[in-house]
Amino acid sequence: MNQAGQIPRHVAIIMDGNGRWAKARGKPRAFGHQQGLEALRRTVDAANELGIEHLTVFSFSTENWSRPADEIDALFGLLRLYVHRDLKRLHKAGVKIRIFGSRERLKDDLIALITECEEVTANNTAFNLNIAFNYGGRAELVDAVRSIAAAAESGKLSIDQIDENLIRNNLWSSELPDADILLRTSGEQRISNFLLWNIAYSELIFLDVLWPDFDRRDLEQAIDTFRARDRRYGGLASS
Ligand code: FPP
Repeated sequence: MNQAGQIPRHVAIIMDGNGRWAKARGKPRAFGHQQGLEALRRTVDAANELGIEHLTVFSFSTENWSRPADEIDALFGLLRLYVHRDLKRLHKAGVKIRIFGSRERLKDDLIALITECEEVTANNTAFNLNIAFNYGGRAELVDAVRSIAAAAESGKLSIDQIDENLIRNNLWSSELPDADILLRTSGEQRISNFLLWNIAYSELIFLDVLWPDFDRRDLEQAIDTFRARDRRYGGLASS
């Protein structure tokens, strides 16, 4: 189907390039992440204004635990800062926030903060901000398979009840629609274990801009690129 005139319903972003942005300025990597948070704040506002329904961002991957402890601390600190500084404003704007991923290795007070954030905004309908935190696509699938196998083992589920819907319903990202666009900044062209299930038919868009420099024009450019694409979902070309 040609996307002319259509606003994508769900945009997922791999916010890459914070470290390189900081290095180019002789600053520590944590400074790049701080500026990355500012880019995220701008992008949430822009996506909401442009009529996108879901914005999903990759903010900490299960693989990021291999980074130095001070960088991990900085990223965790930024999630806390974001919630403390912006929750009220986002709630007032009708934004529903989901913070999804593994809860393993997360401190109790952070889990409490995540829960508060999700509970406060649970009934909002204007816009959906989905933050993948401590997330990995394969870990998510393993977790889903384990839940389904446990249900089968206990006799609550028979094997022929296992279908795509059941698998989706067991994912951490179960409430997310399929992503229309998967966008990655910084010129890298990889998926890096992000949203494996939900990107089956996403349009992949790679931009050369480093994430801290990302702004509304870049998002509009990605939407224009999406509109020019012909999505066939395994069918034949239109026209
Ligand atoms: C990848 O850039 C980015 C990350 C691993 C973290 C993304 C986090 C933010 C944008 C801000 C935090 C937001 C929240 C909500 C916690 P990189 O560090 O791999 O960059 P590089 O490839 O240039 O080194």
